[in-house]
Amino acid sequence: MSDPMIDEWYPVALFSKLDAAGRDTLLMGHPIHVARTGSERVAATEADGRSLPVRIRYGHVWTSLGEPKKELFDIPEADEPGRRLVDVGVVRVRCSPLRAVENFLDIAHFPFVHTDILGAEPHTEVEKYDVEIREKEDEVWATKVKFFQPQAAKSAAGGITTDYMYRVPAPTCSVLYKTCPPRPGEWDVITLFVQPLTEELCDVWPWMALYDDEADMTDLIHFQQMIFLQDRSILENQIPRRLPLDPGMEIPTRADMTSVAYRRWLKRHNYTYGAQLVAQ
Ligand SMILES: [Fe+2]
Repeated sequence: MSDPMIDEWYPVALFSKLDAAGRDTLLMGHPIHVARTGSERVAATEADGRSLPVRIRYGHVWTSLGEPKKELFDIPEADEPGRRLVDVGVVRVRCSPLRAVENFLDIAHFPFVHTDILGAEPHTEVEKYDVEIREKEDEVWATKVKFFQPQAAKSAAGGITTDYMYRVPAPTCSVLYKTCPPRPGEWDVITLFVQPLTEELCDVWPWMALYDDEADMTDLIHFQQMIFLQDRSILENQIPRRLPLDPGMEIPTRADMTSVAYRRWLKRHNYTYGAQLVAQ
C-alpha cells in the first residue's frame, strides 16, 4: 500500500522516557505499541504484531504505518556542539494535527494569546516577510520574519525584536529558528512534532536545541509547556475543526502567508488527513 500520508514518519514517543514496558498509543487511528528493546533500540508494532520501521532522532521515536519513501528530514543544527537539547514532553490537544502546525506558523496570535511573553499590544503588526515552497527540498519556508517580543526566550531579559524563520519539512512537523540572545548570529531551534492520533486529536511533542548555558532545564521545559498550554485552549475551539485546504474558505491576511503556503503544499501532496475539503 502506497499512500502519501501513511508513508510519512511520525513522532510516537519521547526516547528518554521510553522503557521496556513501552507506550500504547494511536497513529492515524491505528493502535500501536512502542517499547525499548535495548539501550539504543526501540520496536514499534501494530495490534496484529506487524513490526513498523523505527528511527530514533531529535529526542523522539519515529515510526510509519507504511513504507517511507524519504528518510526522516534533517535538522543539521541538532548535531552542533554546545546546544542544549530539550525534551519538552507531550501536550495532548483535541484538534486536527494540521491545525496544530498551522497555529505554530502563525505569528499574529502572539500578542493576544501569549500576552507579555511572545508579544504585547500595541506591537501587533506583522511586517512583510518572505514565504516560499522550496522545490528542491520540498519544504515550506518563511524567512525575514520580525516581531517585537517582551520576553522572547527564557534567556531574554527585556523586550527585543526577534528574527524568525519557519520551516515545514513534513506535513505534521515544523521547525522554528529564532534569534538567540546569548549568541548573536546563531539561531535557536524550536520544533513542533505532531503525532496524529486521529484526524481531530493529536499529541504535540515540542523539542528544542538551544544555546543557553544558564537556564535550569526544568525552567526551560516549564516555559515552553506554558506557551503550548496557552495555544491549546485556542486550538480546541477552532471552527471548522479540520484545516480547510481550499482558498476562500478563510480569508487570509498578510500574517497568514505562511499558512496559505502550508495549505497549498499539503494540497499538492494530497495530504488530507486532518483536512477539511468541502465547505460546511
Ligand atoms: Fe502560540
